[in-house]
Amino acid sequence: MLLTHLTCTSCGLRHDWKKLHNLCIACQKPLVAIYDLENIRLVLTREGLTARRGKSLWRFHEVLPLPPNTEPVSLGEGGTPLLWAKRFGKKCGMENLWIKDESQNPTQSFKARGMSVAVSMAKYLGATKLAVPSAGNAGGALAAYAARAGLEAHVFMPRDTPRANIIECRELGADVTLVDGLITDCGAELAKRKEAEGWFEMSTLKEPYRLEGKKTLGYELAEQLNWQLPEAILYPTGGGTGLIGMWKAFDEMEALGWIDRKRPRMFSVQASGCAPIVNAFEKGETSAPEFPKAHTIASGLRVPKAIADFLMLKILRESKGGAVAIDDEQMIRTTRELGSTEGLFVAPEGAACFAALKSLLEAKQISPDEQVVVFNTGSGIKYLDCYEEGTR
Ligand SMILES: Cc1ncc(COP(=O)(O)O)c(C=O)c1O
Ligand SMILES: [Zn+2]
Repeated sequence: MLLTHLTCTSCGLRHDWKKLHNLCIACQKPLVAIYDLENIRLVLTREGLTARRGKSLWRFHEVLPLPPNTEPVSLGEGGTPLLWAKRFGKKCGMENLWIKDESQNPTQSFKARGMSVAVSMAKYLGATKLAVPSAGNAGGALAAYAARAGLEAHVFMPRDTPRANIIECRELGADVTLVDGLITDCGAELAKRKEAEGWFEMSTLKEPYRLEGKKTLGYELAEQLNWQLPEAILYPTGGGTGLIGMWKAFDEMEALGWIDRKRPRMFSVQASGCAPIVNAFEKGETSAPEFPKAHTIASGLRVPKAIADFLMLKILRESKGGAVAIDDEQMIRTTRELGSTEGLFVAPEGAACFAALKSLLEAKQISPDEQVVVFNTGSGIKYLDCYEEGTR
């Protein structure tokens, strides 16, 4: 077994991976999985990543937590295309712009990656009832993977979550509770009930393995770019698992001897109506206070307070990247611009990143001759209600 233990991201306390864990038992901060990379280096090489391993993220199983010879709970997640954005790029004066299109995952978002790994581990470690607060896409993904694993899913969503997410969860057999409030209120409601109900909590970064699924974004990107990371990455940031996961993947790949020390500048993109990380970044703070009266159509970005705020801010600074807020109107406008030039109906979270690219080019924080990767984390199809409103 190449997973050795879980470690606390704040106090460093070691936790046994063979038990179900949420936060650090000493300081209540997120735990992350630690592997024996020296030994993985001996058994897994870049050349060993052949087509025979299939396209799904489980092709990287040596750097994933599930013990060997255990069947993962899978729906074919990962292996998404990295598309050259030739036409949109040209409009921005760029020749080297790429889109990692995560809408092509099961349940149409990148949340499938995290849930495939987290549900596989929860099942392996004996959980039977899984619960999550969700802005929308994570709930759909949990519902799907729990159904596939034969486990119960309990999803807490804000009442104004896009209808498609709510319907999807129900049709996938989840027990859905609609909460008058934000994802933070959903989390509080779940926390009140979980002990009595015997639920295992699967919230973003309050459970260590969704991050492991998300980190495969970084492994795939490096593989698709022939082990040369791009100069900048734009990522729509709510809870931050994608950002933190990719950064972890880069460190692991360096330890494996797969990439050098060069890192992309990481840019977090948020909504003007909910931009706690952008505000904290601009003020030079190391944590982000709760954003008051959070509102945006990009439901995945409606996260007023994230438990891993300190990790995100550290990465943005270490990478010499930044943080940008985009308003809802810009997201709506950019969706059509991207759709009509590149043929992808992106989620508003993805559209926000393309709008942010333009601001960063204007501000000369990104130069048009650089290689840039933008993440489209979901599909616009899930957000029809927002787009109808936006065009009325
Ligand atoms: C489409 C989409 N993009 C981005 C995010 C933010 O994700 P993360 O937790 O990785 O910051 C979400 C989260 O719900 C989402 O659904
Ligand atoms: Zn701790």
